[in-house]
Amino acid sequence: MAIVVAFPIPTAIEAELSKHGEVRVWREEGPMPKATLLEWLEGARGLLTTLTNPVDLDVLEAAPLLKVISTVSVGVDHIDVEAAASRGITVGHTPGVLTDSTADLALGLMLAVRRRIAEGHELVSGGAWGSEWKTNFMLGQDLSHATVGLIGLGPIAQAVASRLKAFSGVRILGWNRTPKELPDIEMMPLDALIADSDIVSLHVALTDDTAGLMSRSRLAAMHDGATLINTARGRLVDELALSEELASGRLSAGLDVYSEEPLPSNHPLIGVPNAVLVPHLGSATKRTRRAMFELAIRNLIAGIKERDLPAELVLRSS
Ligand code: GLV
Repeated sequence: MAIVVAFPIPTAIEAELSKHGEVRVWREEGPMPKATLLEWLEGARGLLTTLTNPVDLDVLEAAPLLKVISTVSVGVDHIDVEAAASRGITVGHTPGVLTDSTADLALGLMLAVRRRIAEGHELVSGGAWGSEWKTNFMLGQDLSHATVGLIGLGPIAQAVASRLKAFSGVRILGWNRTPKELPDIEMMPLDALIADSDIVSLHVALTDDTAGLMSRSRLAAMHDGATLINTARGRLVDELALSEELASGRLSAGLDVYSEEPLPSNHPLIGVPNAVLVPHLGSATKRTRRAMFELAIRNLIAGIKERDLPAELVLRSS
């Protein structure tokens, strides 16, 4: 029984895992080369992985004995989940434990963009704050009294909604693939939500259906001065169209995720104004990462023993 771990882990965890079979750990920083992954998986029953290692058909075909793929992430767009299911391989992920951290970051981005906090920081720390207090200096927009549209109404969006309720006069609109009744959230058709919101915040999983959801025309339908927040996945958004909207000053954005990570230096979003860009930090707190790790390891061990996983991915019927 062999376990492959596709990223460096602490030795204490490796020792714990080795109670359940021979363990091979990729100890270098950066994604594991695919050829090595294919070679190591030959006799493996379990794979512990992260977002940076795609698990596609080639990988699954190289792993005839694989019983479980456990990813330290809630998102599973890096895994061919249908192909895994058709081979009887269970997929475990880490929902729930990162909900609060990700919702906190979404609120942080809303405030950082709308109240120009990051821009103000750059001005002051760069020694460029040249004027005294003035009545018209760096005026932003309130989060209080804003209309916020949540696209996707899973646990993270609901946690964002509950935080927004603490701000005076916020109106919360919601759209979900399957309609939901939630207190204080007005359900809307997607395009009406986009047109009516001061802030549009994305909370859907990346799938073939949602890729490019914030298309050029939907970005154009956001009203002047509106803000896009993305803590979900970069490929939900037409990033070229977004960078043009940001450069023109019509829209602003707070982004944690990108179609390519790390963002290449020639990407159109690099250096763009009216945006706060952070490097995929949604779940990046010590407490949350520890909880994700613990859950992923419990998923892995349950899977190699062919028991029910504590957090098994449930495939959506299309
Ligand atoms: C992070 O993006 C995750 O899916 O957990």
